[in-house]
Amino acid sequence: MYRTNTCGELNIRDAGKEVTLCGWVQRSRDLGGMTFVDLRDRYGITQLVFNMDTNRELCDKARKLGREFVVRAKGKVRERSNKNPRLSTGDIEIEVSELIILNKSEHPPFTIEEETDGGEELRMKYRYLDLRRPTVKNNILLRHKVAREVRNYMDSAGFIDIETPVLIKSTPEGARDFVVPSRMQPGTFYALPQSPQTLKQLLMVAGFDKYYQIVKCFRDEDLRADRQPEFTQIDCEMSFVGRDEILDTFEGLAKHLFRQVKQIEFNGSFPRLTYREAIENYGSDKPDMRFEMKIRELTHLVRGKGFSVFDNSMYTGGICVPGCADYSRKLLDELTDFVRQPGIGAKGLVYLKYGSDGSLKSSADKFYTSQDLEKWAQAVGARPGDLVLILSGSAEQTLAALSELRLEMGDRLNLRPKDKFAPLWVIDFPLLEWDDETNRFYAMHHPFTSPHPSDIHLMETDPGKVRANSYDLVINGVEIGGGSVRIHDAAIQKLMFKTLGFTETEAEEQFGFLMNAFRYGAPPHGGIAFGLDRWVALLGGQESIRDFIAFPKNNSGRDIMLDSPSEISGKQLDELKLIVRKEK
Ligand code: AMO
Repeated sequence: MYRTNTCGELNIRDAGKEVTLCGWVQRSRDLGGMTFVDLRDRYGITQLVFNMDTNRELCDKARKLGREFVVRAKGKVRERSNKNPRLSTGDIEIEVSELIILNKSEHPPFTIEEETDGGEELRMKYRYLDLRRPTVKNNILLRHKVAREVRNYMDSAGFIDIETPVLIKSTPEGARDFVVPSRMQPGTFYALPQSPQTLKQLLMVAGFDKYYQIVKCFRDEDLRADRQPEFTQIDCEMSFVGRDEILDTFEGLAKHLFRQVKQIEFNGSFPRLTYREAIENYGSDKPDMRFEMKIRELTHLVRGKGFSVFDNSMYTGGICVPGCADYSRKLLDELTDFVRQPGIGAKGLVYLKYGSDGSLKSSADKFYTSQDLEKWAQAVGARPGDLVLILSGSAEQTLAALSELRLEMGDRLNLRPKDKFAPLWVIDFPLLEWDDETNRFYAMHHPFTSPHPSDIHLMETDPGKVRANSYDLVINGVEIGGGSVRIHDAAIQKLMFKTLGFTETEAEEQFGFLMNAFRYGAPPHGGIAFGLDRWVALLGGQESIRDFIAFPKNNSGRDIMLDSPSEISGKQLDELKLIVRKEK
């Protein structure tokens, strides 16, 4: 056997055993008579010890070991005199009798330890070395565990794992496609799937009534902490079900993951908020429900007293921040700067301090009596000691700004702990969103989402008002998954394409294959897709999904390690009959 044990499993009960370990030299310490080597593998670290008195030659060999050399060491397990309680193997060490260098290593470009001196860029270039570090490695192990538990749950619920192609035709998920030129049909292109949406619907027509797949999706869109151009979905679809059965099934998956991965039990159902309730109360369709601090509208309470900012605004709303009435001028100025930053765009911030002595003080109190201020306090549910923060402007922008301010205050008051999880379903999104630039409606989810049954009659008369039969799973302010009941009726699908401004020819060209299939007995169906990367990052207590992907791309969509994207050779371009236009 190459090795008898791993570097993470030996303990005091193994004392006296002869073992052989393999791994990488994390570091070695030469203390004159003794040399200690920390040997690392995927499972942990075990201390090797070499004694000058008992084996000079071997000790000399050990002294020459460089960082990250790959070695095989044979020896006896013994109790350590100087125990290390931070290591699971910290009670023992291996008294080495045989050492083989399996491979040398160049000096690594950064220290491969928990506390590393390597910057982000360098670690990404040498990602295979970064992956040797415990945190990064543990993130990948967590990802494996989550994927395994997804499979366990889906399998036991009767879902079948079916692969779908990667070279397909454009799927309308709202981002740009990544495209792949075809050599055999020059001038034509495959699109990489933004999701397997249309394919899983075809699988429903085919009769596979419960499908799932852990699948790569590709979207050419602006990147953020929770967005990669290439990411992984847990993609699911079911037939002969309505919305509630779908939500129950996937709430079951979410509970299973919390139970198996975090040992957290959720009793009762996840709360459900309509899109409208979410926006009105939290200013966001992905509210962080770990804390309250709901937004309250004050528009009509604050108008008509001569304060032009409030008088001329379509919307005024506020949040009540508990226990912060003593916020200093400096802190309030900081918050004003926060809401004024370009991404948030509020013009200013009005505060109301409800002193613990019952006093009411506002930055706008020139215009308002204390009775007025008391009404504001009442409306937002403020009590003595609380601080009320008020913004005003257009409804959409002000609610979005209040949402950001709410999250900021949640952070400042430590109301968003990583080990607390607050899931909810957001339902009944609008079916369509209007785009002023292109002067047309877009599907908010995708064009196969079914309108809410009670709103179908509005499709032709007032499409903007139609709600979708759709849902998102939101946890701690992150959209973890989204889906919908689909249109399975060819006539409604046709109407949907028409509302979206497709001509019949365009609809036929892009989605003819699906509409055709629907002529052959499409069952009622619906589904959901979760972001696996987001699930893992959430369970791992971090915001950036990049840390949970073995080989991620950077913020400009580059793989620094592979140096990709990169130019291709003239020969390849010729074969593809492509000419690259050089931008000046
Ligand atoms: P949607 O577009 O909402 O739905 O995507 C589903 C989930 O995928 C994750 N996600 C991403 N994760 C990382 N990087 C990205 N760029 C990225 N984009 C999306 C999110 C999101 O909730 N076909 C539909 C699903 C359906 O209707 O069944 C779809 O793809 O967690």
